Amino acid sequence: MTLIRNVRPYGEGAPVDVRIEDGRIAEIGHSLTVPEGAEIIEGNGDVLLPGFVDLHTHLREPGREDTETIATGSAAAALGGYTAVFAMANTDPVADNAVIVEHVWRRGQEAGLVDVHPVGAVTVGLQGEKLAELGGMAGSAAGVRVFSDDGLCVHDPLIMRRALEYTKALGAVVAQHAEEPRLTVGAQAHEGAMAAKLGLTGWPAPAEESIIARDCLLAQHVGGRLHICHVSTAGSADVLRWAKNRTPDLAAKAGEAIISAEVCPHHLLLTDDRLADYDPVNKVNPPLRTESDAHALRRALADGTIDCVATDHAPHAVQDKDCEWSAARPGMLGLQTALSIVVETMVRPGLLDWRGVARVMSERPAQIAGLADHGRPLAAGKPANLVLVDADAEWTVRGAEFASIAANTPYEGMRLPGKVTTTILRGRVTAKDGVATEVKVSA
Ligand code: DOR
Ligand code: ZN
Repeated sequence: MTLIRNVRPYGEGAPVDVRIEDGRIAEIGHSLTVPEGAEIIEGNGDVLLPGFVDLHTHLREPGREDTETIATGSAAAALGGYTAVFAMANTDPVADNAVIVEHVWRRGQEAGLVDVHPVGAVTVGLQGEKLAELGGMAGSAAGVRVFSDDGLCVHDPLIMRRALEYTKALGAVVAQHAEEPRLTVGAQAHEGAMAAKLGLTGWPAPAEESIIARDCLLAQHVGGRLHICHVSTAGSADVLRWAKNRTPDLAAKAGEAIISAEVCPHHLLLTDDRLADYDPVNKVNPPLRTESDAHALRRALADGTIDCVATDHAPHAVQDKDCEWSAARPGMLGLQTALSIVVETMVRPGLLDWRGVARVMSERPAQIAGLADHGRPLAAGKPANLVLVDADAEWTVRGAEFASIAANTPYEGMRLPGKVTTTILRGRVTAKDGVATEVKVSA
């Protein structure tokens, strides 16, 4: 039994105590009596939220264990306040069959710090040509419910249509990396004044926006669920707003929204101004855009046009980042900084309160992926998947201190607000004061 003392659910009201029993919240109230032998967690007035859920994490195992493993990525996730993450399929070998997704699932269980849900590839080998065995992955021990070729776009419209039809039958969702490849050949940076000045080939906004429009139309046509990864432009927010407003009846009939979308912390905070010194730590796909894009993305997240925040945590080795811009791989670490960037860009300016943070970092992602035990209300009887946040704390980012093997954070040396102090998975502490604690999960 565990008693969390002195926490503020959703940052509201006077501090309360939370009693946890058998992995669930047993009681929330003022000055609860300490049960005999109970583990006490001092909350110090921290904000209490449901544990975060990341729909977009690259864990690099199998294949690039020199940059991240399921164990190290799980530790980074727990330290970032996450209780569930979705591991993208662009590993080596690709997670496009039941054997690989079951392997990832088991490795996550062994690490025991966070629920690791493998994402299955949409097409064989991420080649975009032939549908992978979606049913086999859905029916495997991993129970895959999110499919994505992330890193690459499912650009063939007929394959996308078939994927939406199959996933509809499986009760799953297709997560699309929206990038029309014919428009981004050789692209190195957001197509705009900065790319022109630096002499880098541009990645035009319509390459993203046109795929989002196409796939929203397809999803609504077949009634299959579509999730848009890392929305990065103001125009994409406009397209999503239009698409979501267009068929309320169809969405209602399906019992849930057909279209959902995520935004990454780096697209909320950073812009292509950062490219001036050609430091590839700022290279990411889709690229950092402009101030007006970031502003529109914050507004879209606040009003629900964009449903949630996902990290696109993308560890890379030093040799793949510390090189000339065009040779560097795109991607940045995200798990241990996501909450702080959301506090900086959304909470401090008054765009989201803590209930809003719970919505975009926990409740909506859990709903989109169909997780029943995460993103639940803070109430008696609900699973004790929780995070405690010191809202007033500030801290300085040091990539070398992160749990990830790679250290490619664009926030190096920055002072950020809001700190995860404790993460709890099914009643067990998985991270406390910057240290991840290995626990065995019996799920
Ligand atoms: O920046 C990115 N990195 N974008 C992607 O779509 C893939 C990811 C990766 O795997 O490194
Ligand atoms: Zn992507």
